[in-house]
Amino acid sequence: MAGVTKTIAVLKGDGIGPEVTSAAIQILEDCAKSFEHRFEFREFAFGGAAIDQFGDPLPAATLAGCRASDAILLGAIGGPKWDSLPLEKRPEAGLLKIRKELGLYINLRPIRLRPALRGISPLRRERIADVDFEIIRELAGDIYFGAHELHGTGEKAYARDVAEYSVAEIERIARYAFGRAESRNRRLASVDKANVLATSSLWRQTVSRVAADYPNVTVEHLYVDNAAMQLLLKPAQFDVILTGNMFGDILSDEAAALAGSIGLIPSMSRGRDGFPALYEPIHGSAPTLAGKDIACPLGSIFSAVLMLRESFGLELEAQWIESAIDHILDHGFRTIDISEPSARNLTASEFTGHIRAELHDALVHSERYGWGV
Ligand code: IPM
Ligand code: MG
Repeated sequence: MAGVTKTIAVLKGDGIGPEVTSAAIQILEDCAKSFEHRFEFREFAFGGAAIDQFGDPLPAATLAGCRASDAILLGAIGGPKWDSLPLEKRPEAGLLKIRKELGLYINLRPIRLRPALRGISPLRRERIADVDFEIIRELAGDIYFGAHELHGTGEKAYARDVAEYSVAEIERIARYAFGRAESRNRRLASVDKANVLATSSLWRQTVSRVAADYPNVTVEHLYVDNAAMQLLLKPAQFDVILTGNMFGDILSDEAAALAGSIGLIPSMSRGRDGFPALYEPIHGSAPTLAGKDIACPLGSIFSAVLMLRESFGLELEAQWIESAIDHILDHGFRTIDISEPSARNLTASEFTGHIRAELHDALVHSERYGWGV
């Protein structure tokens, strides 16, 4: 197969963002070299780093660079240094703005446990054995994007945040989730708080109506409190979870904990077909780990794998990388944040080096591994 040529905008961000992103880029470079692709990486300032440099978490040049790319790889943003700034000036405001400006209304967070890492899950092995589901979080509406107001000071202070959803916003994310469920195990759990919230009543009505167009998908509606409980009691019951922006934020961190570490989970944020999608680990910037070469790069590397699969259609390459990772995990190699008593702990750069060596070996012995390249 002829190689592909792609431009990837790189927003390393803050804290451990730069280090984990560099690891993912090394893997993508190995991929390009081995499969004759051309990936051109263009770096732009974003988040706290961009505030320090340009006084703006999302400078115009960064946004333009992202629009002009085929995909975007983001590290992480934020940190105590910028926490005293008003909400609209913080690194997080840059993240919300990039989502809005690029029309990224779909957020996909796959929760798939690597077999070798089952021991680090806080749940017993038999409860997590068959866990493999996707959270599809609406990313462009809800209480995140309604008015945020804080009036007055002291005892008289008063604040309000407005949650809003239109039928069109719910319908487009629902259709994406139903499509995803159709290509998986055809079960969709829609999560809301329809016993209290008007936005959730509209959510439930709209999801129920859209469901009629997907007769082979079984739909279930759960209140968010129950969903939070079910995720811990019986996570293997889920195939695709569809939910709004706020509930999706919370449930996806809970679901990540099932994997034993938030450092392992990738995400994709995308809009309409044909526009660049953004890939990032779901973990934060972890300022206390930064610069110590200990932060697990897997969330970022799996984000790069998701990019290969979802944006570039490079399934073989995606499997090649996942197999190499499983192989070194099977051999007990770990970074300390995903370690176990019998593990062989490495620095983050040694860990990435082991993955790269295994990628190379898998190609040299491609007939043994069935890579056929
Ligand atoms: C996430 C993060 C962001 C969110 C923050 C950093 C604004 O928690 O991507 O889950 O709330 O969406
Ligand atoms: Mg979050």
